[in-house]
Amino acid sequence: MQPQITVLDAGGQYCHLIARKVRDLGVYAEVRPSETPCAELSGRKGLIISGGPSSVYEPDSPTIDPGTLQTGAAVLGICYGQQLMAYMLGGSVRKGDKGEYGFARLEISGPAPIFAGIEGPQQVWMSHRDTVDGVPPGFRSLGQTATCEIAAMADDSRRLYSVQFHPEVVHTPRGNDMLANFLFGVCGCERDWNPMGQIEALERQIREAAGERNIFFFVSGGVDSTVAYTLCLRALGPERVYGAYVDTGLMREGETEFVESVFRRLGATHFRVEQAQRQFLGALAGVRDPEQKRHIIGEQFVEVQERVLREGHFLEGNWILGQGTIYPDTIESGGTAKAEVIKTHHNRVAGIQRLIAAGRLIEPLTQFYKDEVRRVGRELGIEAEILERHPFPGPGLAIRCLCGDGAAQLERIEEGWILPVHSVGVQGDSRSYRPVLAIDYAPSAAEAADLVNGISRVNRVVQLVAGHASLAAMSVTASALDAVRLERLRRADAVVRRFSHETRFDSKVWQFPVVLIPAGTPERPDSVVLRPIDSVDGMTAQVVRMEESMLSRLAGELLGIDGVCGVFYDLTNKPPATIEWE
Ligand code: XMP
Repeated sequence: MQPQITVLDAGGQYCHLIARKVRDLGVYAEVRPSETPCAELSGRKGLIISGGPSSVYEPDSPTIDPGTLQTGAAVLGICYGQQLMAYMLGGSVRKGDKGEYGFARLEISGPAPIFAGIEGPQQVWMSHRDTVDGVPPGFRSLGQTATCEIAAMADDSRRLYSVQFHPEVVHTPRGNDMLANFLFGVCGCERDWNPMGQIEALERQIREAAGERNIFFFVSGGVDSTVAYTLCLRALGPERVYGAYVDTGLMREGETEFVESVFRRLGATHFRVEQAQRQFLGALAGVRDPEQKRHIIGEQFVEVQERVLREGHFLEGNWILGQGTIYPDTIESGGTAKAEVIKTHHNRVAGIQRLIAAGRLIEPLTQFYKDEVRRVGRELGIEAEILERHPFPGPGLAIRCLCGDGAAQLERIEEGWILPVHSVGVQGDSRSYRPVLAIDYAPSAAEAADLVNGISRVNRVVQLVAGHASLAAMSVTASALDAVRLERLRRADAVVRRFSHETRFDSKVWQFPVVLIPAGTPERPDSVVLRPIDSVDGMTAQVVRMEESMLSRLAGELLGIDGVCGVFYDLTNKPPATIEWE
């Protein structure tokens, strides 16, 4: 399908959000690197240059093929995209006296097609320091904010438009209307995209690609692989579609049974569970370092997948492999850096690489975003319990079961206690691995942020919300990733999951990891950490607070689990902490 709109990715975290918003408006859009040669963009009705973290005047910052501004397609620059247009067309860009982050009030200075029907001062969302301080020849300024003199600009004759703010985020309430004005008013796009109603076409494509061959799937119980599998099942019938699910022993309570029952209900007849608990737990015995854990789990996945493919002769003859790869996974700059690693581990093992090289791979969802996959899934009649699942990391509970490498006391400091359990954080592009600050009162969000930012030894702050012992009486013990602790975590996770489902708290969060840390007393050596967060794509995350009475009820239940000493609440956004602790 030929996209009407291409979003040129200049490294911005909202790049995919722009394409998704365009699609939500019914126009098929793709994402390409900003430097894509303009010859490859012919036929587009419009181009959107995304934001990005760089400065246009620095060497090696993202740019565009100069011809991009002359293809005849209308162009909309957003944030860095505006600065890049100004810089390339003879305007001027400089570092602002101060940054402008968050809400701003846009005064629109005159009529413009992208602001059609939008009058009066507008709330917009800004995130920049660099600023355009002189429009290029032929352009006029379209508006300003208190901090930004040229918050939008236009050259109507060349159909070039730009905005310094982000129309694609919800914090710009009329942003959708501005995008619609650009698409339909300026570019003349037609509505050609609706993820609903595409099932027939997808099934036809699957039948054509498969020919006489059968399809083999590794499924995870997640949304993408389940929807892709179901499409193939419908296209080819249950006799021709095989599925395998690897039970690593690092799954949540009831997970394997749940996945099995779902696939049975979907109509799968050739479905097998590969029991690999002993293999995974054996390989992880005595391992404490998070990266080593991830590495070992990746290796074990490779081994099991290769074995299943070999034993079933799925690498030969009449077989092709199906995968639930979705659009952001196919783009180098898309997803998180970790998504790449995940792919190497799970989707791109050597045997699978051979199938890809031989053209024996079918990925029916590569055009779709996650929300669109969910819509396809709903249309296929897949149950909401699968479609609305929170993301769950491939390495499973292993990276939520923290191990201590020796006994250590908590250290009293002015602000609280230093808990000698290391967790991973992220700042800029670099990883940190530091102890945690523990406190026993509820700070405001701003106070919590100040605490982490103010103590360079830590990258995370947690609040003890309830416990059989106080922080002063707790210590950290040497502990491993063993069956007892995994079961303890599994229990705690199940309690939290049931509780958040019953209270509908789960609809308020994007993900709710539950972590076990080796802090407690000799009788009760572990504590549970609650980590509910909200996020768009996992790249950044905000803490979601639970109402106090609810929290104390949940904590009470968790303290009833054998071996659990305390219940902590993680109060750290990402950055500086990552969502998972390891
Ligand atoms: P972090 O911890 O980096 O997590 O803030 C961001 C998102 O990615 C998920 N995650 C993973 N998912 N395999 C996965 O399939 C992994 O190895 C992995 N590591 C982190 C995490 O749950 C969160 O949603």
